[in-house]
Amino acid sequence: MSTLWVGTSWKMTKTLTEARAWAEGLREHLDTVPDGVQPFVIPSFTATTTVREILGEDSPVLLGVQNAHWEDTGAWTGEVSVPQAKDAGAQIVEIGHSERREHFGETVETTRLKVAAALRHGLTPLLCIGESAGVKEAGGSSAFILEQAAGALEGLSEEELARVVIAYEPIWAIGEKGRPATVEELVEPFAALGAEYTRRVAGLLYGGSVNLGNAADLLGIDHVTGLFVGRTAWELEGYLELLAIAGRS
Ligand code: 13P
Repeated sequence: MSTLWVGTSWKMTKTLTEARAWAEGLREHLDTVPDGVQPFVIPSFTATTTVREILGEDSPVLLGVQNAHWEDTGAWTGEVSVPQAKDAGAQIVEIGHSERREHFGETVETTRLKVAAALRHGLTPLLCIGESAGVKEAGGSSAFILEQAAGALEGLSEEELARVVIAYEPIWAIGEKGRPATVEELVEPFAALGAEYTRRVAGLLYGGSVNLGNAADLLGIDHVTGLFVGRTAWELEGYLELLAIAGRS
């Protein structure tokens, strides 16, 4: 059985005090992380080093950043590079979340450059893809997400592809304004993604309104090898429960 990835992005939440409390709590519960489950946490940049220091250098919990620039250094005011993220303790770079595509001009081209930058520096690219409600209603979900993935992963060798994690997060299912997807709605997109990427990438995750009630069913969908979670995991208890659910899957 393949590893199940279960992680959270904190998005733009948590003070350092809150970040510290969550990370210290997780450190105290590491013995409850089930075998075969790969935990990861993606705080805001401001909390990266704090969380790294609390988890320690050799933690089984992988640490990520929510974005990074494709250039290594230079005059890019307000940006953080992959080498800087790595220096701060990150092992994962989240790339192309729909909130970044919608609000910050992320494109297929920039996701491609960022995937390449992460791989160049030995970090794991966590590529997020997902279609809008309009694309879904028009019946174009699978074609749309395959195109987003193919564009971002263009030109990679099989060895490089094997280091990439893909998270499928339909925009209509994300956040306060989203509604949880049903298993039926996700079968076809995951069949399409699976046909292309199963066994070629490190993980094929689902994200969008994952909660304690639907997590087990979502993990039961063919080709799904993990969950990428927002709100439910921002309280440590929720995250620990999701890890336990994955352990029973
Ligand atoms: P929610 O779980 O809060 O819907 O967020 C999902 C997400 O966008 C994770 O990156």
